[in-house]
Amino acid sequence: MAKRDHYEQLATQLSSLLAGERDLIANAANFAALVFHSLPDLNWAGFYFAKDGELVLGPFQGLPACVRIRVGHGVCGAGAAKCEIVIVANVHEFPGHIACDSASNSEIVVPLMKDSRLIGVLDLDSPKLSRFDQEDAAGLQQLVDILLSSVSS
Ligand code: SME
Repeated sequence: MAKRDHYEQLATQLSSLLAGERDLIANAANFAALVFHSLPDLNWAGFYFAKDGELVLGPFQGLPACVRIRVGHGVCGAGAAKCEIVIVANVHEFPGHIACDSASNSEIVVPLMKDSRLIGVLDLDSPKLSRFDQEDAAGLQQLVDILLSSVSS
């Protein structure tokens, strides 16, 4: 199946999975589980939430991870500082990359923006180099938008 079609299918599944629930932690947890078990070549999928100028670990699937990341540090901190999607083809070449799982070779971070304010980031890691491209960025942005609208009143 083409990547774009796979994301369309995931968007439909995610919308039904989150329908009727407004709790951010519950919906982020089911989001992480769905994405981790549906997208190929991932070794970590989850969230960090913005708290007091730091990113604090939220629901995820994969190996235990570092709990706090300062904004501006690592790939997650770069995405949070810029409020932009960051795609890293080879994390070993990214200055300040925070290695939580030695299996990770590439990474994508998608900021979660609510009313123009950063509330956290989605972070996906892959053992494959250059695993993520602009189609992943667009597909994941669509999924993040579904999460954000599920929890807004
Ligand atoms: N690699 C990330 C840290 C989080 S883990 O990948 C789960 C980073 O550099 O921000």
